[in-house]
Amino acid sequence: MIKLLKKLEPFIEEGLSGAASISACETLNANLKLGIEALGTGRIRAIWRSEDGCYHANESVKRLILAYFKTGKNEPFNISRLSDGFDCIQLRYKTGDELYLQQHGIRIVPGAIVREGAFLGKNTVMMPSFVNIGAYISEGTMVDTWATIGSCAQVGKRVHISGGVGIGGVLEPIGAQPVIIEDDVFIGARSEVAEGVIIRRGAVLSMGVYIGKSTPIVDAKTGKKWIGYIPENAVVVPGAIDVYGTGISTYAAVVKKYADDSTRSKLKLDDTFRGEARSL
Ligand SMILES: CC(C)(COP(=O)(O)OP(=O)(O)OC[C@H]1O[C@@H](n2cnc3c(N)ncnc32)[C@H](O)[C@@H]1OP(=O)(O)O)[C@@H](O)C(=O)NCCC(=O)NCCS
Repeated sequence: MIKLLKKLEPFIEEGLSGAASISACETLNANLKLGIEALGTGRIRAIWRSEDGCYHANESVKRLILAYFKTGKNEPFNISRLSDGFDCIQLRYKTGDELYLQQHGIRIVPGAIVREGAFLGKNTVMMPSFVNIGAYISEGTMVDTWATIGSCAQVGKRVHISGGVGIGGVLEPIGAQPVIIEDDVFIGARSEVAEGVIIRRGAVLSMGVYIGKSTPIVDAKTGKKWIGYIPENAVVVPGAIDVYGTGISTYAAVVKKYADDSTRSKLKLDDTFRGEARSL
């Protein structure tokens, strides 16, 4: 991963400088495409995890994407059955990829848009939704209708992203660390997670929970506070906290409980909807 990014660094640098001629841009873009393809196959990722469990943003990936945008030429493209567009970023899957999708048990419902440089793991289901460049969706995950997965966002295994959810990206406004949704998380309908927030393994967000890096996250029973991440297995609902003791309250995400059998029974994933990866 590091090797390829190192190799691409001079092209990234030149692309970002904006000084290249139109014909030089074409060559640069063709080289940068190798990196975008590696993102799309999961060979390189927008984050890496150190031995102590901390996540680190891979800055070169973001720079690669920006350089790819900057050197790309907008042109019409027609992806039969998937979508039409006019842009410098093509779509991840094209006519001809059917065998790959079948082998990996990936389902893409009409209206779902997965941009070039996004990775879909085995047995993922894309309802009509939008997955941006650099995003990484791990196996068994469902992205439900009208959900949007922002650039470079990292989504774990067996996650359910409900209808209308927004997962923020890192490109505009520019952000340092991508949002990370760990394995077995449930994000309730119309919720929004942005600004590099981490949703830890098994956590559950009810409908309409909004979390950015400054959103207070409070445990309703103990008063404990977190900022920037939701603890493992927490069940989070929208709430409010009193500010400055004035009686005026502002929005907060409230940890109401920790997931138990009742929670899990409501959120059980149904294998019927998931494909099954098959070898040839
Ligand atoms: C979060 C959720 C899974 C909780 O289920 P649960 O663990 O069985 O919890 P309960 O329903 O027993 O609720 C636990 C507490 O949280 C409260 N609560 C649950 N959902 C809430 C919400 N959306 N807003 C405020 N409070 C909520 C309950 O009132 C209850 O409070 P209490 O303990 O003071 O009585 C469920 O409420 C939910 O939001 N499901 C997701 C629905 C959804 O988005 N579906 C996808 C459609 S595409």
